[in-house]
Amino acid sequence: MWPVALGMGHWRDVLSWLRWLLLLLSMACVSVHTTTDFLQHWPVPYKRFEFRPKNDPYCQAKYTFCPTGYADGSIPVTKNEDIIQVFRLQAPVWEFKYGDLLGHFKIMHDAIGFSSSLTGKNYTAEWYELFQLGNCTFPHLRPNMEEPFWCNQGAACFYEGIDDNHWKSNGTLVPIATMSGAIFNSMAKWLKEDNDTGIYYQTWNVRASPEFNSSVWFDSYDCASFVLRTYQKLFELGATFNRKVQTNYTRLLLYSGEPTYLGNGTMIFGQHGNKSLALDIQKFYILFRPHQSWKELFLSILDIYYKVTMDKMFYFFFNFEYWYLPLKFPYIKVVYDEIPLPS
Ligand SMILES: *[C@@H]1O[C@H](CO)[C@@H](O)[C@H](O)[C@H]1NC(C)=O
Ligand SMILES: *[C@@H]1O[C@H](CO)[C@@H](O)[C@H](O)[C@H]1NC(C)=O
Ligand SMILES: *[C@@H]1O[C@H](CO)[C@@H](O)[C@H](O)[C@H]1NC(C)=O
Ligand SMILES: *[C@@H]1O[C@H](CO)[C@@H](O)[C@H](O)[C@H]1NC(C)=O
Ligand SMILES: *[C@@H]1O[C@H](CO)[C@@H](O)[C@H](O)[C@H]1NC(C)=O
Ligand SMILES: *[C@@H]1O[C@H](CO)[C@@H](O)[C@H](O)[C@H]1NC(C)=O
Ligand SMILES: *[C@@H]1O[C@H](CO)[C@@H](O)[C@H](O)[C@H]1NC(C)=O
Ligand SMILES: *[C@@H]1O[C@H](CO)[C@@H](O)[C@H](O)[C@H]1NC(C)=O
Repeated sequence: MWPVALGMGHWRDVLSWLRWLLLLLSMACVSVHTTTDFLQHWPVPYKRFEFRPKNDPYCQAKYTFCPTGYADGSIPVTKNEDIIQVFRLQAPVWEFKYGDLLGHFKIMHDAIGFSSSLTGKNYTAEWYELFQLGNCTFPHLRPNMEEPFWCNQGAACFYEGIDDNHWKSNGTLVPIATMSGAIFNSMAKWLKEDNDTGIYYQTWNVRASPEFNSSVWFDSYDCASFVLRTYQKLFELGATFNRKVQTNYTRLLLYSGEPTYLGNGTMIFGQHGNKSLALDIQKFYILFRPHQSWKELFLSILDIYYKVTMDKMFYFFFNFEYWYLPLKFPYIKVVYDEIPLPS
């Protein structure tokens, strides 16, 4: 539905692309080194931090993060001999607002359910943006501030209960594994560390091409990657998975040649920064700024489409550093592909 190409069907593509982008945006609101200087390893590893910094008061959530979670983020301790059933949970993004509309586009949100056979209690774990997707995908350009400003934290939310109807009605609720209470307790400890050190949301996956074995430059860090690494952890801890269940995930992809490192905010926007690069990055992000009128947005979208498919470039932000992506056909795509359960 979303690969974009010029030539025949150009306008149809623009329209379908526009429609998709509108959805994304409305959901959301949605020293120059060359590689000869050092050997870059791909994909660039996601940076872990020692602790989660305090929120900048500029970033205001439209919807409270984790309203029903345990106040201190704690996870209840289960008896070691308990048998815990694990569920794959998936539902259309923002179902509460758009029903299953985004489900038709296979834009799905992922979570994990746990059910204790000793207590009968059940729980949900998910990982998502503190300030909605748009704020994690594009920065704010603030007056008197050269450097783009990001409200891009993401975090884990653990709460009691599984809302069967929410997951089942337009999505998925299936048992995928069983494990002991001891494994659950170890997972809880790991999850806490993971939540304290992995603090920024990354929307995009960046790859060389749609080929199965093409180079991966950057991986996303989102709700689906949380589910994937939790499954992997549970598997390592000894949980038994039912590999017959097919598990597909929504991923947003950019296709690009080998990225070029540009530098961090200070290096580009600081006193001794690169003024022309700084200006160029600002001009790029102005197109994507949140809170635009519909008319502005429409014009911006045409610009974005032009930027991406004609200029074939994207300024990409990862680990608080900027990269230049020389985009390649099919440029940008939403996929819903299988990533099998661990075995
Ligand atoms: C994004 O961040 C801005 C600034 O903090 C905030 O006003 C807005 O509610 C956030 N969410 C969306 C969806 O724009
Ligand atoms: C993860 O971190 C967020 C932000 O500090 C916090 O609200 C949440 O309770 C934490 N979740 C877990 C499971 O520790
Ligand atoms: C599932 O989608 C339908 C159609 O959009 C919607 O009416 C319904 O509320 C959705 N289910 C849930 C649990 O939101
Ligand atoms: C979770 O618990 C609630 C309340 O007991 C129950 O209605 C629901 O069916 C349970 N869901 C699962 C998947 O175990
Ligand atoms: C990817 O796989 C194809 C077919 O198996 C092979 O011809 C090609 O050389 C591989 N490409 C890379 C980059 O490994
Ligand atoms: C940016 O990189 C420079 C050089 O590596 C470093 O000295 C500086 O502390 C970094 N700035 C930030 C904000 O990380
Ligand atoms: C500034 O950045 C541009 C684009 O990356 C680059 O071509 C130019 O050489 C840089 N200028 C300096 C002084 O580093
Ligand atoms: C799930 O992924 C597989 C392989 O990636 C694909 O063939 C299948 O069509 C996908 N399922 C759906 C419902 O899109």
